[in-house]
Amino acid sequence: MEDKIKNLQEQALLEIKAANTADSLEQLRIKYLGRKSLVNTLFAELGGVPAGDKPRIGNLLNQMKTAVTNALEEAKSATGNAGTGPESETCLAGRQAIDVTMPGIRGAIGHKHPLTQVLDRINEIFLNLGFKIAEGPEIETPYYNFEALNIPLDHPSRDTFDTFYLKEDRGQKFLLRSQTSTVQIRVMQKHKPPLQIIAPGKVYRPDATDASHSFMFHQVEGLMVDRDIKFSDLKGILEMFVKQMFGGDTKMRFRPHFFPFTEPSAEIDISCAMCNGKGCRSCGQKGWIEILGAGMVHPAVFEVVGYDPNKWTGFAFGMGVERIAMLKFGVEDIRLFFENDLRFLRQF
Ligand code: PHE
Repeated sequence: MEDKIKNLQEQALLEIKAANTADSLEQLRIKYLGRKSLVNTLFAELGGVPAGDKPRIGNLLNQMKTAVTNALEEAKSATGNAGTGPESETCLAGRQAIDVTMPGIRGAIGHKHPLTQVLDRINEIFLNLGFKIAEGPEIETPYYNFEALNIPLDHPSRDTFDTFYLKEDRGQKFLLRSQTSTVQIRVMQKHKPPLQIIAPGKVYRPDATDASHSFMFHQVEGLMVDRDIKFSDLKGILEMFVKQMFGGDTKMRFRPHFFPFTEPSAEIDISCAMCNGKGCRSCGQKGWIEILGAGMVHPAVFEVVGYDPNKWTGFAFGMGVERIAMLKFGVEDIRLFFENDLRFLRQF
């Protein structure tokens, strides 16, 4: 009897070890532990065992049954994790939290603000013509915004209505620059001629806001100083700029004007891109739109920065970036650039 029990256990454990599907394990369970199983047959034989041996043999039988039951359980959970059969696949999917083949969540991609796009293009055109980019502070002193630029105390643009004044600090007056021409002075004070710079940046004027006015807007200043710079050089450079910015058919005209820091001075118009010069709402039926002021650097300005006006000549210009962007994109209200309305900004 003892040998029978031992042999049956060995056989059962070997077969269980060899089985590798849930199905074959179920067959083994029926074979060894089912109602008419080999184990049960042995239990039935226990009746014929002499009374003195019964407890020991019964114990052995029970141990054998437990060993076979445990081996079956273990084998069952092992096949479950091994990845065979449909049952094991569900198990795998359930355990894996990340499916690396799923498409990811796409982040929203932004783009440059239309004004930045136009500023970039202006910079690019002038960089290609050999200009360097210069910068200056937005908080300025009246000296750089006015005096050094030959704007006398009684000039109308000195009026508080045209400039934002800030708090005085230890007797020094400050203001928000109302033009980028301040950078002309700062650059010439630091560098000897010849030079060729543009200065893009923000300027501030206390104008009432409407479709064509904003208290803050952008300008790009230009300055070129060398020996024998002529008005025709200014004209040539600006013509190249206008044609690259607005297209080869664009016409340009110079109107005489006054700026204290240039002499002679001009305002420059281009033919209206919206109506091709015929006259429309955007150009006030004139067919022309003013985009910049310019002129030959005034000798008084050269003297301020210590350049000899008999030796050096130069031109300067200042253009309004919003104006140019409005023309380029057909935008009729300057306020749209600053409202941060994505429905507007997404169009560019
Ligand atoms: N600073 C002038 C303005 O803001 C423009 C300008 C710049 C004119 C340089 C002449 C030369 O109106």
